[in-house]
Amino acid sequence: MVSRHTIGQVAAPVLPIELDAITLRPFQSDDYDDFCAYRSLAEPARYVRWSPDDPAKVRRAAFTKRRRATRIAAPGDILAPAIADRATGRIVGELMLRWIDNEHRQGEVGFGLHPDFQGRGIARTAAVEMLRIGFDILGLHRIYGGCDPRNAPSAGLMRRLGMREEATLHEVEYLKGEWVDEQIFALLSTEWPSSPTR
Ligand SMILES: CC(C)(COP(=O)(O)OP(=O)(O)OC[C@H]1O[C@@H](n2cnc3c(N)ncnc32)[C@H](O)[C@@H]1OP(=O)(O)O)[C@@H](O)C(=O)NCCC(=O)NCCS
Repeated sequence: MVSRHTIGQVAAPVLPIELDAITLRPFQSDDYDDFCAYRSLAEPARYVRWSPDDPAKVRRAAFTKRRRATRIAAPGDILAPAIADRATGRIVGELMLRWIDNEHRQGEVGFGLHPDFQGRGIARTAAVEMLRIGFDILGLHRIYGGCDPRNAPSAGLMRRLGMREEATLHEVEYLKGEWVDEQIFALLSTEWPSSPTR
């Protein structure tokens, strides 16, 4: 359940958010070792910008950025909660909701899960909450997500969330020694109530 408080015209969501077997909560300083352990794995890094070979200062900067992204109350803000296992309190993944702008009410969603916790519907449960915050609390009109077209688990998750495939952008990034495409999925607020996730 999301608790919230009013900021301007919107009610900003407040972490933590308790869901079934997981908690969405701010990253804490003592999560750093688990964060680094996740970031040293090859599998989740395969189709994303970070790499298991990132130097310590890059990892530390990524962690600090997440530690600060605990509140989404204005355009430009990013909410980047940790996904924690409720039983242990340990982090098992991460989420991102970016409030891009107010005029067009656009947002972006992202997610990553430790391989040991994939294939259980955890990412879906967590991502639905990000969409709910974006549409129901922030009043966004469109939320999109992008992935490498080879990233079948990510594309599959976005399809299961009811997001439509909109486009493939060709060779938009040069990552890990190659040009990569980006497949764009999106959901409109008008589509959200009839989404299969609700
Ligand atoms: C993308 C990613 C988050 C998807 O995670 P996921 O665990 O596959 O996603 P879901 O939470 O939707 O789980 C779906 C799977 O759980 C299974 N499942 C089991 N119980 C379930 C339940 N109660 N509800 C829903 N699905 C359930 C589904 O059948 C499905 O399995 P399948 O893929 O074998 O068909 C994950 O692959 C990941 O972290 N990848 C690395 C990082 C990354 O690439 N991030 C995206 C960058 S664009």
